[in-house]
Amino acid sequence: MRVTIYEVGPRDGLQNESAVLPVEVKAEFIRRLAEAGLTTIEATSFVHPTWVPQLADAAELLDGLTRAPGVRYPVLVPNERGLDRALEHGVTDIAIFGSATESFARRNLNRTVESQFEMFAPVVERALAHGLRVRAYVSMCFADPWEGPVAPAQVVEVGRRLLDLGCYELSLGDTIGVGTPGHVEALLDAFEAGGVGPDRLAVHFHDTYGQALANTLTALRRGITVVDASTGGIGGCPYAKSATGNLATEDLVWMLDGLGVETGVDLRSLAATSLWLAGLLGRPSPSRVVQALAKEI
Ligand code: HMG
Ligand code: MG
Repeated sequence: MRVTIYEVGPRDGLQNESAVLPVEVKAEFIRRLAEAGLTTIEATSFVHPTWVPQLADAAELLDGLTRAPGVRYPVLVPNERGLDRALEHGVTDIAIFGSATESFARRNLNRTVESQFEMFAPVVERALAHGLRVRAYVSMCFADPWEGPVAPAQVVEVGRRLLDLGCYELSLGDTIGVGTPGHVEALLDAFEAGGVGPDRLAVHFHDTYGQALANTLTALRRGITVVDASTGGIGGCPYAKSATGNLATEDLVWMLDGLGVETGVDLRSLAATSLWLAGLLGRPSPSRVVQALAKEI
């Protein structure tokens, strides 16, 4: 078995840090991630720069980025303006990001659940016409800070519509990190009943309640083989109250190494990068694996 790690540290990780790193440091971070063996690295976002000032340098970052062979560098794109900017800077992979709930759609996208599809449809259509690969996220898959628990059927409805636009994969986001393995089972059951199998799905767990790794294992046992993670466990969403960092890539790799599942990632090299980054961000990595390995590196 092999698991593909979809690394989101440079995007989901850095979008929520109070320290804004210089563009050269971001490029070095991405270079080090590729060197450690990661093959999909979400690099940045072409969102409105005042909405996420931490990633306002997306164009400059991509222009200065040395792309390693065999590595994909997707970026977040919410709308046609974002797509235009992404196309101008040599992007080959994008990700749109929808919400399962009205409250988060309004706060994160300034749209309703229904009108988000009108925003995404021309993005996906034009991106596919340019030969780009388009992934979709669906956020608030288990609960929403304003609306409480979210019904699996509501997530499946939004997720299917995002896939139907022409996206190759749907990443299920536990944006505020409250889900548990039972919730994951129920959601995957609902997707299966809705005709969407594990081959079209990825998982994206934030680790607020320490459940991200257990949730990931549950998803792997259900046949999912693409897992989102953030090196050092940094991250969160500035528009979701109580969101904390993603599942740390090191925590994931430690578990997968133990299970004999191939990832192609060098754990020590990755942890060394997290320690380097933690020094620059001015706070220790929340990853237990990084903390444990720090004594040896
Ligand atoms: P809006 O205010 O409705 O935008 O924001 P608009 O369409 O009304 O346009 C207003 C002005 O903004 C226009 O300029 C546009 O050109 C400009 P004007 O004509 O007034 O001079 N504009 C842009 N400029 C640059 N780049 C753009 C862009 N778009 C419009 N792309 C919008 C709507 C979607 C833009 C805004 O809500 C936005 O940027 N939201 C992004 C928020 C975000 O990045 N959140 C974090 C990522 S999501 C996440 O972290 C969750 C995830 O990790 C999964 C999980 O954990 O669940 C993916
Ligand atoms: Mg996220």
